[in-house]
Amino acid sequence: DIRKTFLSYFESRGHKIVPSASLIPNDPSLLFTVAGMVPWKGILQGTEPAFATRVADVQKCIRAGGKHNDLEEVGFDGRHHTFFEMLGNWSFGDYFKEEAIAMSWELLTSVFGLDPNRIVVTTHYSDDEAAAIWKKVSGKDAILLGDKDNWWSAGDTGPCGPCTEMHYDLGEDMPGGLPGTPDEDGGRFVEIWNDVFMQYNKNEEGKFVPLGRHNVDTGMGVERIAMVAQGVESTFETDVLKHILNKVCEITGKTYKENNKTDISLRIVTDHAR
Ligand code: SER
Repeated sequence: DIRKTFLSYFESRGHKIVPSASLIPNDPSLLFTVAGMVPWKGILQGTEPAFATRVADVQKCIRAGGKHNDLEEVGFDGRHHTFFEMLGNWSFGDYFKEEAIAMSWELLTSVFGLDPNRIVVTTHYSDDEAAAIWKKVSGKDAILLGDKDNWWSAGDTGPCGPCTEMHYDLGEDMPGGLPGTPDEDGGRFVEIWNDVFMQYNKNEEGKFVPLGRHNVDTGMGVERIAMVAQGVESTFETDVLKHILNKVCEITGKTYKENNKTDISLRIVTDHAR
């Protein structure tokens, strides 16, 4: 339902729906497809013609090495995976920040029906434009963060730019603090969606060269939005992964949520088995 709802929302707004590309990219700088933008790198850089200016898809991703490596996080929290699926909408020289943010907000609140009060947004401190759009669209003051959180690139070179992240508040019973605070990894706030505004190409000399046109690259984890929609505390308890976790418990004879250390192992085996 989540995949279908996402795709039909963007289809009704002029996006061409395309299937997931291979997990093995046609790109010597990457071992695996680490994000939805990987198959579109040539288009984003302007070296390949765009087959459409608005595209949406659900891209299979692996983050188990290199710049986007989630391997060491898997199991220790309930929200990282070596393999996951990324819902994405793309603008190749079409809409930019204003429309991208407005659509993200509408989809999350009016279509998926998430409580607007539970959504927290972050923007890059240099991106006054994105922060002003959030204020206008949602009434929210974005939390301004640095490159670690709000600057996105697939690798050491290639298309990149400032991004804005949407986080969901799982509630005050959960430990953890707001994005950007020392306690941000505590678990209370989960990042659900990231809109990247691809404005630059970082070249071999490390220089940021403005791209000839503005692109939007967004990514929302299927497992994470499922976790929020299904009201569970981790992606492992969603209907995408729960059956694997149950099987791992059955085979090992262990019970989930009995012992913290065992839970980490059960989650790791579940992720890797998937
Ligand atoms: N490329 C961005 C990310 O992976 C948005 O799709 O978060």
